[in-house]
Amino acid sequence: MAKFSHAVLEKNVILLLIGTLITVSIGGLVEIVPLYTIKSTIEPVKGVRPYSPLELMGRNIYIREGCYSCHSQMVRPFRDENERYGHYSLAAESMYDHPFQWGSKRTGPDLARVGGKYSNAWHVQHLADPRSVEPGSVMPAYPWMLTRELKVKDIADHLRANRTVGVPYTDEMIAKAAADVAAQADPEGDHDLDGLRKRYPKAAIADFDGDPKRLTEMDALVAYLQILGRMVDFKKYKTKDLQQ
Ligand code: HEC
Repeated sequence: MAKFSHAVLEKNVILLLIGTLITVSIGGLVEIVPLYTIKSTIEPVKGVRPYSPLELMGRNIYIREGCYSCHSQMVRPFRDENERYGHYSLAAESMYDHPFQWGSKRTGPDLARVGGKYSNAWHVQHLADPRSVEPGSVMPAYPWMLTRELKVKDIADHLRANRTVGVPYTDEMIAKAAADVAAQADPEGDHDLDGLRKRYPKAAIADFDGDPKRLTEMDALVAYLQILGRMVDFKKYKTKDLQQ
């Protein structure tokens, strides 16, 4: 009987078309409907904040270089993953990621919890020449990031664009975006560091690339890597007071 009805479907173009449309629309609904409930399904978690302008620029470089093609940013809720990387990823941790970098390919390790795991100097050395710290590494070298100057000119627009898609950047954050970039990568300079810390708690503030005279792509990328997984305090996450 099943065989018969399928033959009918396959031989009648109109029936096949209607059947296809029904199937595709079920698939479409399954993908689209959850998007309307995103506000209620993502539980707010204390500590999650928009990226600082320097971190956001580093993130743009991360996307440009396709780091996600070898690295995921999503610790799954399995014991082996939690023992290796730490607490499983929460939806809220990537709520300000446009686009998110969860990924599924792990040629290298997951990076969702890499912030604070290594020093800034380690990251710089590793990115410029991975095999100098990990002899067997197949990761490409990115030495030019040490000399390529960061394009800061349009950073306010980047923040504005993110605000358009729902990231809560304030007018103050947008007005101070370029100044905050300079401040985060130059703690010795004459900058408003307190303001930066207030706007972006836990941001790593350092001359990341080790050259105080230049603001390079390396500064931005390392600032980004160092905040990954550090916004939420996972030691306290289980207690109620962490929910906003
Ligand atoms: C061809 C695949 C590949 C690409 C592309 C790649 N990586 Fe890697 N990455 C690896 C591998 C393999 C390792 C593990 C060996 C090592 O530490 O070098 C690694 C390790 C790392 C680590 C250390 C992680 C840890 O917990 O020890 C960081 C950080 C990192 N990569 C960042 C990046 C960034 C940033 C980019 C993009 C600019 C990038 N990777 C691009 C393959 C890749």
